[in-house]
Amino acid sequence: MRVVKVSAPGKIILSGEHAVVYGYPAILAAVDRRLFVEVKKSKAGFEIIPQEGGTLGRYALEKIKGNLKVKDLRGLKIKIDSQIPIGCGMGSSAAFAVAITAAIFEFLRKPWKPEKINEIAYEIEKKQHGNPSGGDNTISTYGGFLWYRKESEGLKIFRPLEVKELPDFFLINTGKPKENTGEMVTMVKNLYLKFPTRIEELFRKMETVTKEFLRFLLKEESSDLKELIMANEKLLESLGVVSLKTRQLIQKIEKIGGAAKISGAGGVKKGSGIILAYHKDPQFLLNFTQKENLDIFKVKLGVEGVRKENE
Ligand code: MEV
Repeated sequence: MRVVKVSAPGKIILSGEHAVVYGYPAILAAVDRRLFVEVKKSKAGFEIIPQEGGTLGRYALEKIKGNLKVKDLRGLKIKIDSQIPIGCGMGSSAAFAVAITAAIFEFLRKPWKPEKINEIAYEIEKKQHGNPSGGDNTISTYGGFLWYRKESEGLKIFRPLEVKELPDFFLINTGKPKENTGEMVTMVKNLYLKFPTRIEELFRKMETVTKEFLRFLLKEESSDLKELIMANEKLLESLGVVSLKTRQLIQKIEKIGGAAKISGAGGVKKGSGIILAYHKDPQFLLNFTQKENLDIFKVKLGVEGVRKENE
């Protein structure tokens, strides 16, 4: 029996989350944690494993069906297997949207068109998050490092960045946020409606930091990476998307000479998902997290986007 297997990576945002929803730029990187989708025919009708993926999976199939103009996609067994923590700012839902779309394309032997896969994945992301920027699905589709800007619903501009070398980054889990991405985006929107001048000002400052980050990555400027991450985090804290618990943790990382920022939507009531941490001597971070009993993992940034896996 034909079995198709596809995988798509999770992501981190180096700079520009939330502001990117309002047309400001962001820099995203694909990380070496992937989500796998396997598709084969099933006599039992539509089956998805694990079942929690059912609602979004069904929606995804409807979108793909409409787009590819195929009549019936019911007799399929879809298996999802993921290395990306769910709801922690690492783009697990975007990776799912991208991988399931690509897997169905492959299963139906439709041409592998990243633009098309990305477009459908964006529609699935909208169902999941309401008003996403489209950055998460785009990085999961194309991989690498991306400069991304949503000019309007119909015009999203992105360019791959040639990043030759980057120091080691670590991810630390501050705990799963109580809020999902959609709720965090809505929270910022309400703030924006209430204090437009103040929030625009924050977004403009974020854009300045994001552009400095860009020049750093392209080696046009030798900025201090620690300062860039700290500046980023301070702006996100001013936007109110980082919980007290996470802010305190980040302060401790700064005290030992490092820097960290949330990556993605954040969270205020409990944890804020994963944070991106940096120290010029990583051993400090490893000792610190061991002492504090925290989950830490090293990640490779800029990995390949959606791809076919060997069956
Ligand atoms: C989510 O990973 C990042 C946000 O900027 C939302 C989005 O870009 O859709 C908070």
